[in-house]
Amino acid sequence: MAMNWAVELARPDIRSLAPYEPAAWEPGFARLHANESPWRSAADTSEEGLNRYPEPYPLALAARLAPLYGVPSGCLLAVRGSDEGIDLLLRAYCSAGTHSILICPPTFGMYAVTARIQGASVIEVPLQRDRGFAPDCAAILAALAPHTRLVFLCTPNNPTGNAMAPADILPLAAALAGRALLVIDEAYAEFSARISAITLLDSHPGIVVLRTLSKAHGLAGTRCGLVLAASGIISLLRRIVPPYALTQQTIETVERITEPAIVAATHANIARIRAERTRVAAALGQLPGIRRVWPSEANFLLVEFEDAERALARAHAARLLIRDVRSMPGLGAALRITLGSTAQNDRLLESLA
Ligand SMILES: Cc1ncc(COP(=O)(O)O)c(C=O)c1O
Repeated sequence: MAMNWAVELARPDIRSLAPYEPAAWEPGFARLHANESPWRSAADTSEEGLNRYPEPYPLALAARLAPLYGVPSGCLLAVRGSDEGIDLLLRAYCSAGTHSILICPPTFGMYAVTARIQGASVIEVPLQRDRGFAPDCAAILAALAPHTRLVFLCTPNNPTGNAMAPADILPLAAALAGRALLVIDEAYAEFSARISAITLLDSHPGIVVLRTLSKAHGLAGTRCGLVLAASGIISLLRRIVPPYALTQQTIETVERITEPAIVAATHANIARIRAERTRVAAALGQLPGIRRVWPSEANFLLVEFEDAERALARAHAARLLIRDVRSMPGLGAALRITLGSTAQNDRLLESLA
């Protein structure tokens, strides 16, 4: 294919944009070209020195992370949380007042908020509650408008916890080819046993996968997410990502996640959360006043209460914050409870008992 349709769908003004040229990155040279300080601050605890700008587009970091996700480094962009990945996609593909995105509520709120900030309209095709919150692919295709550029699916979905197999995604990806990108947000993928949609990237140039280090990797505070896609899409997003988006501290922290001891500890933490998920779901199921604990493949449980107000008050009295998701479509009297440590989960169960 001469030119990838998934790149051609992007805004023409972004495709032809000349990106900002940051100061040259030549680690062996003295830096008298970027108006930095020659001295380190006494407050600086980094390895490399925060008096210097970090690498403008951290390519070494991309090369380091790519094998972890099974993609070539040109197919991965490290950004400030997957939130920034969502923002870059919106800005690259949707012109204000013209284009739209399609989402399947109840789902993560940032897709719609980011679209509205960009001036893109939002088409909603609800998940099917009576089918375990599975997306309705036929309805998605029927609702798609000529100017829809991005279709967002979240798997496992926040806040419902259900996940999709790549085989369920394929027919939709095929039907969207040439029309819109299919963005698959896998923020919680590590907590699910399913195969990642990353395995579909080679055969489907219009799929974009979002991952994050904020959940299973325990690095929410460092702000790092990843966009995985065909290299043409990644080069396009690199045009609009601000230089120095990742701080030096973030780069130094994230570089370590591939160290064997840290990989092992991360796997152990994921196993603990999964065990707690089974235990807490079963214990909640035994409590009076709970109508339903939805099956979850993520690090949280969606729980329907007889009296959600009372459950919130009881958790609050035990100094526990849980998320009120009742205003989201199709959720009724449901609350979203993140799995914590064993002691925190016990405190939650006691407060609700
Ligand atoms: C589905 C989903 N996607 C993305 C994010 C944002 O993650 P990040 O911390 O990488 O910006 C969240 C955070 O809660 C989420 O639930």
